[in-house]
Amino acid sequence: MAKIDITRTELVWPGKYNEDGTLKEVPRVSLPFQVIETVNESRATREAQKATSLGLFDVYEGKEGDTFEAGWRNKLIWGDNLLVMGSLLEKFAGKIDLIYIDPPFATGADFSFTAPIGDSGEEVFKQQSLIEEKAYRDTWGSGLESYLQMMWSRLVLIRDLLSDSGSVYVHCDARVSSHLRLMLDNILGRENFMCQIIWKRSSIRKASAKKWLSVDDVILVGTRTPSYLYNVIYLPFSQEYKKRFNQRDDTGWFYWIDIGTYSSERLESLKAQGRVRFPDNPAAHPRIKHYLHEAKGVQPDNVWTDIIPINSQAKEDTGYDTQKPESLLERIIRASSTEGSLGLVADFFCGSGTTLAVAEKLGRRWIGCDLGRWAIHVTRKRLLGIENCKPFEVLNLGRYERQYWQGVTFGETKDKSLTEQALYEYLAFILKLYGAQPVAGMAHLHGKKGKAMVHIGAVDAPVTIAEIDAAVDECAKLKQGELHVLGWEWEMGLYDLMVEAAKKKGVKLLLLQIPREVMEQQAAAKGDVRFFELAYLEAKIKQPKKLTAQVVLEDFVIPNTELIPQDVGGKVKKWSDYIDYWAVDWDFRSDTFMQGWVAYRTRKERKLPLASGPHAYEKPGKYRVLVKVIDIFGNDTSQAFDVTV
Ligand SMILES: C[S@@+](CC[C@H](N)C(=O)[O-])C[C@H]1O[C@@H](n2cnc3c(N)ncnc32)[C@H](O)[C@@H]1O
Repeated sequence: MAKIDITRTELVWPGKYNEDGTLKEVPRVSLPFQVIETVNESRATREAQKATSLGLFDVYEGKEGDTFEAGWRNKLIWGDNLLVMGSLLEKFAGKIDLIYIDPPFATGADFSFTAPIGDSGEEVFKQQSLIEEKAYRDTWGSGLESYLQMMWSRLVLIRDLLSDSGSVYVHCDARVSSHLRLMLDNILGRENFMCQIIWKRSSIRKASAKKWLSVDDVILVGTRTPSYLYNVIYLPFSQEYKKRFNQRDDTGWFYWIDIGTYSSERLESLKAQGRVRFPDNPAAHPRIKHYLHEAKGVQPDNVWTDIIPINSQAKEDTGYDTQKPESLLERIIRASSTEGSLGLVADFFCGSGTTLAVAEKLGRRWIGCDLGRWAIHVTRKRLLGIENCKPFEVLNLGRYERQYWQGVTFGETKDKSLTEQALYEYLAFILKLYGAQPVAGMAHLHGKKGKAMVHIGAVDAPVTIAEIDAAVDECAKLKQGELHVLGWEWEMGLYDLMVEAAKKKGVKLLLLQIPREVMEQQAAAKGDVRFFELAYLEAKIKQPKKLTAQVVLEDFVIPNTELIPQDVGGKVKKWSDYIDYWAVDWDFRSDTFMQGWVAYRTRKERKLPLASGPHAYEKPGKYRVLVKVIDIFGNDTSQAFDVTV
């Protein structure tokens, strides 16, 4: 290995430098975003703003303005933050006020989330009716080194996204805080380290621990430049402190304090108000009346002991492991972002969306990202629960992220096309994760699992009706009675047509979703990937009055219940127990889903209506109604229905 020229104190780990001694470059991949859903905004409002704002394309072009009035929409992005941040650079480099991150801590543990099932909420809890799911994976391959490389690339991109007055808050604990502190010095410059906050997150005592009990989390605060934004904030006085104001006059409660420094005019004015007292000892300082109603409060220091962690009784508890308290984020956002909607706050490891919920409540603009399906779902519901939550959109990098992953993992040619060998490896990889064996010499069938033949969809296009037809025909010709089709995306309406059609040809057809986790190295390596069967829903569109429509859900079917994990299946009493959330777009135009009506379960409110409210159309005509269901696994199933009003 070539000599590395170390010219300053820095943290080095295996893999930071290339063989030739140069610093490994951080990938800055720019991929187009797709808006998959808009929330809290009707198509009509969006259309009215069309001239100034983003058009109704499914690819986000970043042409909106920087204010809500000019068309800005807060953004919840589902994807790996390395690619998401890289893709945000074009529009947001140097634009973000505050970035808070709470990345996994390299503890080597898998965290989980719990979700209650069905209408009965608490009762279900008592019966331990919970789904345990891997919410995210906290293991990073070869331990600390790969964790550090992961954090290095993210922090470099974070620096590039910060505005000149911006700051980054990195939430971690003593296991990695020293490494991350050095890394921040390296990336932002030592002079731009603002401080380290110690948050006393717990007071749990483990009697037998043979060491000092650690109850602290560390939040490292770095800034882009020395002229950073910082709003001085004040906390209310404690009852103890208030007791000092123990004298009262006509103006209010007060106590006497040393005068400090005042201009002579100010001193004269205070004297004239009778607020100055000269002690008998001429060497002692004069004293003035310090009134309680004039005091602003206490300026917090960097040791925070007054913020209690989330417990299961807390109103804000979403059931997401590692959820942080809103009061913690409130302090950070108030101090380090511009007040009101000019402030732009981001969290690229957003989990249950605490940062975004607080930013929303404080009127800031926000961008959030997480790679977990469940994290995105929990966050969306949490935001919807905020009164007057402004419209936001859910985005992903869709097939572009998958293509990128395929190229990096299996190799691609210079013109970005996939080599035959790479395509073979891709198919073999997915087959292995599905527990199937590759088969050779077939046109549309790629593998076999037990008695079933397997067809795998491409990463960059939806599985089409024609594609399935061809695979079914090949099965029928070979007298194979079962076909499993694995896909990333699906042509709309395919379910209704295909399963019945295949049956008529003597082929039992199963359609299975390839989950995003396939692209997570650790999840794939551990075999921690579940392929969910596509569900379908039955619904009726009613027309209670002229020009109105209403959706009534009649069934939600997961066709082969034997594929549902037993612990969950056993606790589901009726079909609607599978549904956690459902929403309706009343005028779907084959682009983004625009949520026009929504209902969902929360931890407190378990009942879910199965009939939507009525929707009044302005004009008679034929409309396409899209119904979207998110089930208790976080998967979504959408189905379109035509209505003429
Ligand atoms: C400690 S949790 C954040 C909890 C959050 N502060 C809250 O209050 O709920 C870390 C989150 O980072 C997400 N995550 C891990 N690696 C990621 C990546 N490469 N891109 C995006 N999100 C990631 C995980 O899915 C997880 O939700």
